[in-house]
Amino acid sequence: MFDPHAVLDHNQKPVPRYTSYPTAPQFKDGMGSQIFADGLGMLKPEQTVSAYLHIPFCDRLCWFCGCHTKHTLKYKPISAYLKYLTKEIELVGQQLSFRPKLGQLHLGGGSPSLLKSDDLQMLRAALDDAFEIDAATEISVEIDPNDMKNSSAEALIEFGLTRASIGVQDFHPDVQTAINRPQSFETTRDVVQELRQLGIKSINIDALYGLPLQTGERLMQTIARCIELKPDRMALFGYAHVPWLKKHQNLINSEDLPNTFDRYAHAQAASAELVEAGYQAIGIDHFALPGDSLAIAAQSGQLHRNFQGYTTDNHPTLIGFGASSIGRFDHGYVQNTIPTALYQQQVAKGILPKKKGLVLLVKDRLAGHIIERLMCDFEIDFGTLSSYPEWMVAKCREKAVRLIEEDPFALAEMDGDSLKIAAHARPFARIVAAHFDDYYAPENFQYSKAV
Ligand SMILES: C[S@@+](CC[C@H](N)C(=O)[O-])C[C@H]1O[C@@H](n2cnc3c(N)ncnc32)[C@H](O)[C@@H]1O
Ligand code: SF4
Repeated sequence: MFDPHAVLDHNQKPVPRYTSYPTAPQFKDGMGSQIFADGLGMLKPEQTVSAYLHIPFCDRLCWFCGCHTKHTLKYKPISAYLKYLTKEIELVGQQLSFRPKLGQLHLGGGSPSLLKSDDLQMLRAALDDAFEIDAATEISVEIDPNDMKNSSAEALIEFGLTRASIGVQDFHPDVQTAINRPQSFETTRDVVQELRQLGIKSINIDALYGLPLQTGERLMQTIARCIELKPDRMALFGYAHVPWLKKHQNLINSEDLPNTFDRYAHAQAASAELVEAGYQAIGIDHFALPGDSLAIAAQSGQLHRNFQGYTTDNHPTLIGFGASSIGRFDHGYVQNTIPTALYQQQVAKGILPKKKGLVLLVKDRLAGHIIERLMCDFEIDFGTLSSYPEWMVAKCREKAVRLIEEDPFALAEMDGDSLKIAAHARPFARIVAAHFDDYYAPENFQYSKAV
């Protein structure tokens, strides 16, 4: 019988989340500019692209936070940064000989919900100059509900918001104190209601399991309250505790953290509650109501995975703007300069801050495709890989066979020419995916635990 505790016991090693393959630690300094220039040069006028804008500021620092952000109570550094961000968009626009159509635009951070109306308009104007944005463009923004006291939902609507992603994490006051994130249910509810009244049809809520002082019961209460808000989508991420990378996570008392077995049990119970409430489980950590585009994409094998997690975005080009942002072209990844001050200095000099990058080899594309399908569909049919060299596909098939032979837990099985992750083993999809990762080094502590 399948014993998840035995799997967890055996797999205490950190595993990447595979929001890209190869993963960001593989990107090399000095590679970004050329990959970016080539990528822009290869764009065709009929091609639709996506863009990501990073806002590395928050007016509070949640101790669990793993994002690239900085705490500030003043707006001045934010408005200064936005001038550089606008300039970066202009610089990229100048490199383009036409305005590509924008399919999806995501503002993440940090807390883009801090942005004031004038600044949002300044960004939108720069984006309109560089890209063709129309009613079909999906525009999503990460929203910390506490920010909405100062900034307005109307400003976001004017910016073009079509999907709001709202951070909740956990509603229990003791958990909130342990992570330094006070946030009432009422504040969250009011923001959701206001956005709905203003016509926002798609709302996502982020919650976390594995937080300090979180019990199964507390997480279930949080999930129940989230369900009351009727989000179209929910993300239930496992808290990645990496204090060696994110120093402020040391403020969390590690003794308050649930152990691996409890994390697993909590995630399973929360997932069951969401499914019971009518949500479709998507990938390892997302949920969506059946009519939602994410659910439809998952059902039709059109789900994708990028730096924001699971997505319907199928455009091969993603242009990243802002400090630390990551973009992708057919032939490789590009990451902007990470420290915000250095990013600003480079943009001020008119330099595109495309620092790191990685050219995708054919073997990387193949492994990336296999890993993406395993993370999205929990299966990969090797017979669908005819666009890759046969000998490379054969090597991957061998890896699949070896994985099954050596895996004491029957996480996956071969069905014809398909490798399938068993339904009960889906929470362990990252472990299966890691077998196809040529760069995987478990001693690389950049990663978090598999569950
Ligand atoms: C940029 S943040 C959220 C936006 C907004 N600043 C907020 O907090 O509401 C995006 C999401 O990443 C998730 N996240 C942040 N730190 C994390 C960590 N250490 N482990 C797992 N998920 C994390 C949280 O669920 C968060 O809502
Ligand atoms: S979770 Fe959101 S609000 Fe909290 S520090 Fe991270 S980005 Fe900022």
